[in-house]
Amino acid sequence: MAGSSQHAQWSSRWAFLMAAVGSAVGLGNIWKFPYVAGQGGGGAFVLVYLICAFMIGAPCLIAELSLGRRGQMSPVNSMTKIASEEGRSKAWSLLGWSGIVGAFIIISFYSLVGGWVLAYIGKAAMGFTGWTAATSESTFNSFIAEPFEPIVYHFLFMAITVGIVARGVQGGLEKAVEVLMPALFIILILLVVYSGVTGNFDAAIKFLFEPNFHKLTVNNILSAMGLAFFSLSLAMGSMMTYGSYLPKSVNIPRSAFIITASDSMVALLAGLAIFPIVFGYPGLEASKGPGLVFVTLPIAFGQMPGGTIVGPLFFALLGVAAITSSISLLEPAVSYMEERMGWNRIKTTATMGFAAFALGIFSSLGQEGNVLANVHIFGLSIMDLKDYIASNILMPIGAMFMMIFVGWFVSRKAMMEELAIQDKSFRVWYFLVRYVCPIAIAVIFANIIYATITG
Ligand code: PHE
Repeated sequence: MAGSSQHAQWSSRWAFLMAAVGSAVGLGNIWKFPYVAGQGGGGAFVLVYLICAFMIGAPCLIAELSLGRRGQMSPVNSMTKIASEEGRSKAWSLLGWSGIVGAFIIISFYSLVGGWVLAYIGKAAMGFTGWTAATSESTFNSFIAEPFEPIVYHFLFMAITVGIVARGVQGGLEKAVEVLMPALFIILILLVVYSGVTGNFDAAIKFLFEPNFHKLTVNNILSAMGLAFFSLSLAMGSMMTYGSYLPKSVNIPRSAFIITASDSMVALLAGLAIFPIVFGYPGLEASKGPGLVFVTLPIAFGQMPGGTIVGPLFFALLGVAAITSSISLLEPAVSYMEERMGWNRIKTTATMGFAAFALGIFSSLGQEGNVLANVHIFGLSIMDLKDYIASNILMPIGAMFMMIFVGWFVSRKAMMEELAIQDKSFRVWYFLVRYVCPIAIAVIFANIIYATITG
């Protein structure tokens, strides 16, 4: 095992923030949030999502970043190191492992959807003029049903990710996020205004914010929580790894709040850009599933003046946002392999990236109309199954154990030192991490298990 000096550090607080926001903001906000919220029935789902993000996600993010900074190594070795410093079992390193495995599962399908985004840059440049809901729907459906083309884009997306990760955190990553994240934000606001004016904004607001609790099932609550974790990049080792590059001078709680707030904001903006179109045009449905963003937005781009410029720009920026997230999905495994095998960065990154690419091929072939479309496991397509395992099982359970570890197995003094916040704020956080969050997650799981058993 190599020492901590081997890893890089962020060059500034701003660079860290941008990278962490870059990890959090991605397909999870713009692709996944709208369609999962749509399937979850809107209103109450969104409310549960926001509560989970701020009450469970943010405290957990603080815990994860602190563990990384304390451990100064990859998730597995950081956990081993802190556990042994605190006189605890080595088994806590399993938390690092579940992160690495989870991140690997996610990146395998994340890169596929990232590839769809890249493909749509080209489609948008050719113009969506005259597209109706039906054209948009059939174009997307036939694209994902192709056995070959999406995989080429999936490969391209992974190759870009590998290229950046291979160059190291500072060289590749910092530069990309500093300019492009703010640009994405601006274009999203533009889209909200445009689709608000031309689509059905009232219906969208009602759908997203009117809490319709009768639509809320335990499964929906679990998906909302899983989505909040996914969107905040939690419990997958990503934030722990980013924390390990963090200088001591950075205030973790404040950063965590900024990350959570900007992440939720982008998700809501994406919802506000997409749902007015869903309700404004006949033939679109809120519960359409993973194709939602790819089917709705082209209609808007096709009609707006300058759509052939704004459209490709939007997909390009979404591609960047996706890449700044996929980088953070690959990084934990790479930093572990570097420590463990002593391999160089380029070899490690290329190997892991290729393996994840190979696993991702099945997600593509499992899309509707594609060659493995009939393969359903527990009623889920290959991509949905991977997402379920990572988002609804590994993330919440990992987050729960991480908070139990920090709250009960690491000394209070160590955490106070790490967070360096006022006594009162510390106590609130500590209470959430020790009691409220683990219990909330446990209760949701108990309900799911109960519901499954009783059918
Ligand atoms: N948070 C990222 C997104 O919203 C995805 C991600 C999940 C990244 C887990 C890292 C770890 O797109």
